[in-house]
Amino acid sequence: MSYLHARLLRKRNMLIVRSFIILLLSCIAFKLACCFSSSISSLKALPLVGHLEFEDVHHASKDFGNRYQLLPLAVLHPKSVSDIASAIRHIWTMGPHSQLTVAARGRGHSLEGQAQTRHGIVIHMESLQAQKLQVHSAGGPAPYVDASGGELWINILHETLKYGLAPKSWTDYLHLTVGGTLSNAGISGQAFRHGPQISNVHQLEIVTGKGEILNCSERQNSDLFHGVLGGLGQFGIITRARIALEPAPTMVKWMRVLYLDFSAFARDQERLIAADNKFDYIEGFVIINRTGLLNSWRLTFTPEDPSEASQFKSDGRTLYCLEVAKYFKLDNKDIINQEVKESLSELSYISSTLFSSEVTYEEFLDRVHVSEIKLRSKGQWEVPHPWLNLLVPRSTMNEFAKGVFGNILTDTSNGPVIVYPVNKSKWDNRTSAVTPEEEVFYLVAILTSAVPGKERVEEILKRNQRILEFSEEAGVGLKQYLPHYTTRQEWRSHFGGKWEEFVRRKSRYDPLGMLAPGQRIFDKAVASYS
Ligand SMILES: Cc1cc2nc3c(=O)[nH]c(=O)nc-3n(C[C@H](O)[C@H](O)[C@H](O)COP(=O)(O)OP(=O)(O)OC[C@H]3O[C@@H](n4cnc5c(N)ncnc54)[C@H](O)[C@@H]3O)c2cc1C
Ligand SMILES: *[C@@H]1O[C@H](CO)[C@@H](O)[C@H](O)[C@H]1NC(C)=O
Ligand SMILES: *[C@@H]1O[C@H](CO)[C@@H](O)[C@H](O)[C@H]1NC(C)=O
Ligand SMILES: *[C@@H]1O[C@H](CO)[C@@H](O)[C@H](O)[C@H]1NC(C)=O
Ligand SMILES: *[C@@H]1O[C@H](CO)[C@@H](O)[C@H](O)[C@H]1NC(C)=O
Repeated sequence: MSYLHARLLRKRNMLIVRSFIILLLSCIAFKLACCFSSSISSLKALPLVGHLEFEDVHHASKDFGNRYQLLPLAVLHPKSVSDIASAIRHIWTMGPHSQLTVAARGRGHSLEGQAQTRHGIVIHMESLQAQKLQVHSAGGPAPYVDASGGELWINILHETLKYGLAPKSWTDYLHLTVGGTLSNAGISGQAFRHGPQISNVHQLEIVTGKGEILNCSERQNSDLFHGVLGGLGQFGIITRARIALEPAPTMVKWMRVLYLDFSAFARDQERLIAADNKFDYIEGFVIINRTGLLNSWRLTFTPEDPSEASQFKSDGRTLYCLEVAKYFKLDNKDIINQEVKESLSELSYISSTLFSSEVTYEEFLDRVHVSEIKLRSKGQWEVPHPWLNLLVPRSTMNEFAKGVFGNILTDTSNGPVIVYPVNKSKWDNRTSAVTPEEEVFYLVAILTSAVPGKERVEEILKRNQRILEFSEEAGVGLKQYLPHYTTRQEWRSHFGGKWEEFVRRKSRYDPLGMLAPGQRIFDKAVASYS
């Protein structure tokens, strides 16, 4: 065989192989297209009160993190629980022959695509708001509200206040949905006393991954109830929640004081969360590399002693700001002021740095929304948010602070770094929420925005990674809050002793693995093309 002949032959063989591959690929593409178009037509035939949207779906491929984008096949706008159940039951019936997955989307305030699905169905939970909020105040010592899973906490606040009531446990920002925060935990400055939001729910209505509608509580379907709380959307769609209420205060005395020493700051925080009646809200944050004191506060806070406060200069040092609040009604203002004075006198903050403010309860709870409006007007709200949320055990918190604040983290001008302790006894360990094992642990929320012209997303992510690596090497033993992992091994170690149960609940309530695929814990069971 001549050399030329051999080359031609090889070329022909390659051509054959290549066309075979192309044929195979187009076969798969055809099958996929076929599969999609048959899914689309069967979905279109579903009898719904609300509707499925196939065209205008781009908004569902975005989230607050602004880093992940998966385009869904359709968005379901449910008008009733049965709409959600029909859609899920339909996909459940198709079994592993369908690749469709389902992602409930609250406000899409996830950071890494947790409320998204590629080519699946996003359920726009806010459409369920049409179900009225029902406040039950009379006839019992324990008032509650029944709210849709897609309800925003801010709406719950407004509605319950009409009855002089309000939920007990909050998040810092209220334009989040009930289903979204209950799928994580819902932590804020009230959690030291009342536990997270998942500790303040009496009952849930759930649509499981088989399309069943089930009520659950401590007494009824309790395995599902505990599983769904902190369950990252894995076991069912929360369509309704019964949330505990308490009499609402009208006013809030809101205070900030500064420390130069982390351990003094933390000691006071821990003393305050252990005390029964000092403050109603306890948080704190770190200030790194700020000169010219506290510019952003000046509008709302006044210094207790203006001349002394003006003497205090941060000089770029790392500062720790304790933030506390005391609730009151106007008629007991004097008593409250006296109590607050006494509580403050036991703390060891820098004495010239007491700042305070008096606002209504609504203004206090909706405080982050004010920043949202400001940031939006500057085009700085819809930027990438490579946030890192951690739960750090008390025993290693000092070491974590020493290694991270002012060292790995050298500037807090592009977003707050929130730090405060909570007591694990207020958390129910039957829920899916994962925390460190210790009695007291800290929430550390490093909420950096990637603002154009400042640090790039990649740099911020790299620094987050350094913080995690440092913690690993120092044996800090932290857990991620709003966790994000990509491998099975990482998820297993995140859940630790709770992993087996998590997997068992998954196979019980969502056997096909169709729910909340954006969490990337499980893959949907799909029959292979053969
Ligand atoms: C500015 C800001 C401040 C925040 N402050 C706090 C805070 O102080 N404390 C705190 O704990 N968290 C806080 N968060 C985080 C917040 O709890 C999460 O973003 C959470 O995901 C709620 O957002 P969402 O309602 O938009 O849910 P989404 O992001 O839409 O959904 C979150 C996850 O839950 C699933 N899901 C949504 N709805 C349901 C449902 N009805 N049933 C089942 N699964 C569902 C989704 O599929 C997804 O996996 C904050 C977030 C932002 C953006
Ligand atoms: C769940 O509970 C609510 C209110 O208690 C009730 O109206 C509803 O019918 C119940 N649903 C199921 C499926 O039992
Ligand atoms: C945590 O709460 C438990 C139960 O209320 C209490 O006994 C304990 O002292 C608290 N621990 C701290 C450090 O506050
Ligand atoms: C501290 O802030 C100054 C001025 O805002 C900035 O130029 C400098 O780079 C910052 N230092 C660090 C270590 O980030
Ligand atoms: C929950 O806490 C109790 C008491 O601390 C402990 O005995 C039990 O093992 C814990 N359960 C889980 C699932 O972690």
